[in-house]
Order: sequence, then structure tokens, then C-alpha cells
Amino acid sequence: MCGIVGYIGKKNAVNISIEALKRLEYRGYDSSGVATLTDDNVLYIAKKKGKIKELEKVLPKFDSSKCHIAIAHTRWATHGEPTEINAHPHTDNSGNIALVHNGIIENYKSLAERLTENGSVLKSQTDTEVLSHLIGFFYKDGVDLEEAVKSALKLVEGTYGIAVVSSKEPDRIVAARKGSPLIVGIGKDEYFIASDVNAIIIHTKKVIYLQDEEIVTITKDGFDLSTIDNVSVQPEISEVDWDAEDSDKGSFKHFMLKEIFEQSTTIENAFRGRFIDSLGTSRLGGLNMTTQELHKIKKIILIACGTSYHTCILGKYLIEKMARVPVQIDYASEFRYRNPIIQEDTLVFVISQSGETADTIAALREAKAKGARVLGITNGIGSTISRETAGGTYIHAGVEVGVASTKAFTSQVTILYLLGIRLGRMRNLSHGDGLFYINELKKIPAKIDLITQQSERIREIAKSFVDSKNALFLGRDVHFPVALEGALKLKEISYIHAEGYPAAEMKHGPIALIDEEMPVVAIALKDVLYDKVFSTLQEVKARKGRLFTIATEGDDQLDKISEEVIYIPHTIHELQPLLSVIPLQLLAYHVADLRGLDVDQPRNLAKSVTVE
Ligand code: G6P
Repeated sequence: MCGIVGYIGKKNAVNISIEALKRLEYRGYDSSGVATLTDDNVLYIAKKKGKIKELEKVLPKFDSSKCHIAIAHTRWATHGEPTEINAHPHTDNSGNIALVHNGIIENYKSLAERLTENGSVLKSQTDTEVLSHLIGFFYKDGVDLEEAVKSALKLVEGTYGIAVVSSKEPDRIVAARKGSPLIVGIGKDEYFIASDVNAIIIHTKKVIYLQDEEIVTITKDGFDLSTIDNVSVQPEISEVDWDAEDSDKGSFKHFMLKEIFEQSTTIENAFRGRFIDSLGTSRLGGLNMTTQELHKIKKIILIACGTSYHTCILGKYLIEKMARVPVQIDYASEFRYRNPIIQEDTLVFVISQSGETADTIAALREAKAKGARVLGITNGIGSTISRETAGGTYIHAGVEVGVASTKAFTSQVTILYLLGIRLGRMRNLSHGDGLFYINELKKIPAKIDLITQQSERIREIAKSFVDSKNALFLGRDVHFPVALEGALKLKEISYIHAEGYPAAEMKHGPIALIDEEMPVVAIALKDVLYDKVFSTLQEVKARKGRLFTIATEGDDQLDKISEEVIYIPHTIHELQPLLSVIPLQLLAYHVADLRGLDVDQPRNLAKSVTVE
């Protein structure tokens, strides 16, 4: 949600910032802007509605020998429409300060009133502009920029990740965070500020993850870290363990397609080194819990948003079946305000690709406040969730750039499957059962490759969806969350209204929608419920519905009632979702691409929703 970049060093600061900003464009892309200081220390600001390429069109060429400081921003609008005037950076009355911000200033109205009474002229509809004026208000003679920022932030209610420059102190950028992620990148004679590592990985792998209410001043010679209450902080420098190539599209047309194809590798990365074959169990050391502690767990709560919530639903099916431990699932946004009941011996997992989703973080804090032990399953190394949980597991999927999540989903599911084995082995699973589950998982990557090889055929099938207004996705048991995920993918990137349903629920409502126009996508794999799903699909057929089915290789029934069948390899029931979701991801991708839409940056969405 909004991307922030700052650079100070010897190179061309505007070029570096714009290039870094492009790597953050997935966070928001309705407008963008940059601020730099010219060689006579005058603040230069450019802003543009639309994507970063629009901003580039209006930027002059800056002299590389003189342009050494810049801050930049790509926006996902919260307060005020995506217009040039609402785009960041924002400035104060004096025009000396420029500020970029991610987050929400909740008390901006009362602050705006007080500032206006004191002579501030606010030009935009944003909450952010209030903060730049507030800093300006404190930035008087004898007060330096960092002090002014600290004074302003003490009055702010809400969340922020900010970077600020001043024409009066041209050798520094001041940055601070509360609730919105921000990192400092440490280069050689150069320093960076960024919303996430992705932006600056080509320049440095040494980073500091700022904590809430920390403030940093960077110059070309170093940095100074403290809290906004003036307590000096000893920096903890982390080394990023992935490479720049991970965030390149390679030969793929879109990141999403690349990420769909990567899943054979990313699933393997999720399980690699996490088996103990000799004990027929899994090893999830990051949980920081002994076998005895895990053995005492009587209930699990899984909490997340979006695609990660679909992982939770699947986790319920898997863990209850494999480990016989009751699992409760919750949308983070609902959990946080529901006054949830947390009993003793309950283990809570928050699941988040980014590790920065605001609602999920709030749910984590609520669960902790209720006394729960909370663990995280995240992709975002060093993310807020990874830091605020008592332990957890990284999915190691590598950076996921496409706004519609794909590889993170299958990696999260893989981790919950491993958890099912681990908890199951303490309960009803034998050594042989555990080993069987492990060995079946090891076969999954090769099977995924067999499905992605069908991409071109799925593109042909996608042509039947291009003009559809609605689509229905059906599945039962472990395929119900996959149906939800298939529908979510389609609506996110193709803007076709789609619903996911447990197949048997179709007769309780959605059946009324079925006609010759409506595509119905059904997951009907060979398992115990196959016959039941087949009957449901005949009900679709009887109403002239257009049926597209995902079937197990060798199935000879579904082609009789389906317009098209996509065959996938056989695996055990518990692992089928890792396979059945792949054709649905590909279908959504191809439909959106055939409709000529921006697959990686669908309208109105953002990759990481760091506001409530
Ligand atoms: C946004 C993204 C989704 C994602 C959801 C949860 O809505 O567009 O793709 O599933 O946030 O994100 P998280 O990072 O917490 O998994």
C-alpha cells in the first residue's frame, strides 16, 4: 500500500529512486511523485497521476554529478482521489519540506483544523499533507529536521512510514515508521530508504528493518537511529538472502505467469530440509515449541486475509483430518473486533504472504493480548508479523510481485500440510502414515510441471470466458477453498464477477444463476466425493450450464458432460489442492491477458494492504 523510496549518495538520486520505485509499483499505482534538491538547494517536486511511466515523461534530466538526494512515492489512494494534487510528495507552507507517506493519519481532521487556524494552507484532500504542514510548524529556527519530525509524530494518531527532506538540510533524509513497513538499505557511501527490500536489492543486501516509532536520519556518510522519544537505538543489520533476479520477469510476459510456473520450485523450497524421514515427521524448528508443548495443543486458530484466508480454510480440512485437532478459521478483520474467545492450549497462526497486512497484524496483537501463543506463516523476511510472533515459519517463496497471489498460496498450504504431519504424528498418525504423507509431497513438484505445460491449452479454453459477465466455481471438501481461490483470481484480474461455492451448496442459491451463458468451473477429482460432485454437475448440465471441469487423468466420465476438461495428475486427497489450483490460476491469468488487462497490477488492488 503505497511505495516509498529515498536515496542519498554519490549517484544520480532521481534515476535510482525512480528505478527503485518501479520495483514497488505493485504496492500502489494510481499516481507517483519524486522530490529532489537542485544544486543550489532548491526543492524540486514532480508528481503525476497514473503509473510511474507517466511521471518519467515529465522529469527533466538531472545532472548526475549534482543530484544526490531524492525521495519518491507510488500511491494507493486512501484519502482523496488519485490526482496530481493528492499525489506525494507533499510540502508545507514554506515549501522547504517534502514528505512521502504510507499509512493513515487518523486524527488528520483535528490536526488540519489547528494547522489552518495557524495559517497553514492545505491544498490536497489527503491526510498526508497535514503531516508535512505539522512538521513545517515545528521546523523553526534552532530546530533541526529530525527534531521537527519527532515533535510532529508525537501528535499523530494512526500509521506511518515516512521519508522527509528539507532544502535547509540538503545532506539528509529523515525517515520513521509506525505500523507501515520501512527499511534502511546500507550501501557503500550511499544509503536508502524503502518500503521493502525488493526496491533496493540490486544495490545492497544489508538492511535495517525499522521498528515502530523508530526514526532514522541518513546522510551519505552514515545513519543515526533512535526512537521518536529520543532513546538511541542499537541498529540490527540483516543480510537479505535472495537475489535481484528473483524479482525479474525473465522471459515471461507477466510476473503472475512467472510465479504460477515457479510453483514446482517454490513448493520444494517450502518443504526442503523440513522432513525427518527416520521419524516419519516434519521439522518446523521456527515454531520454537517443543514436542511436549505441541502435544498439549487442543485447538488451533488460523487467521488471515484474502488468498491467505483461503489457505486457512484448507488448513482446517488438512489439520483436522491429519492431526485430529479442531481448527477455527477467521478473517483477520473480523477476528480483531469480535472479542474472540481464546482458551488455554490454543495455538494461533496468522498467515500472510507479506507479513504486513494491517488487519492480520491487528488480529495477531488481539490474540496476544488475550494470552494466546501466536505463530506466523509468512513470506516477508523480517516483516512485522515475523517480528511480533513468538515463532513461525517462512514459506521461502521468494518475492511475489503479481498482485494476485499464486505461489504464496501453494507454499502456505505446503507448510500447513507439514504442520498436519507434525501434529498428526503426536496423535493418530503412525510412522508409516507420516512417511507416506512425506513421500507423496515430494512427488508434487514434478506433477505441477505437468500442469503448467498445459498453459497454452488453458489459454484456448480461456477464450470461452473472455466475454462472460459471471462465473461459478465449485468444489467440495479440500476443493471448496480452491474454488474460492479460483473465483478470487478471476475477479481480481479479469474483473469478471465470480463466486466460489461448496459444490453441494449450489442447489441452495447459485443454481438460479445457471443458464447457457454462465461458465461453471468444477473441480471433480477422483476421490470419495467424486460421485456426489458428478451428480451436482449433472444438475448444471440439465440447466444447460457451460461446464468446465478439472479432472483426474484417466477419468472417462467428465468429458461427456463438460465443454472442456483439464486433466491433472493423480495424488492423494490431502495434496490435490496443490495441483487443482494451478489450472485455475492459469485460467484467470489467460482470461485477463486475453481481455487486454493489466494482469500484474489490477485496478484498485494493492499487493500489501497496510491500512485497515
Ligand atoms: C491483498 C492482496 C492479496 C492478498 C491479501 C492478503 O488483498 O492483493 O493477494 O491475498 O492482501 O495479503 P497477505 O500479504 O497478508 O497474504
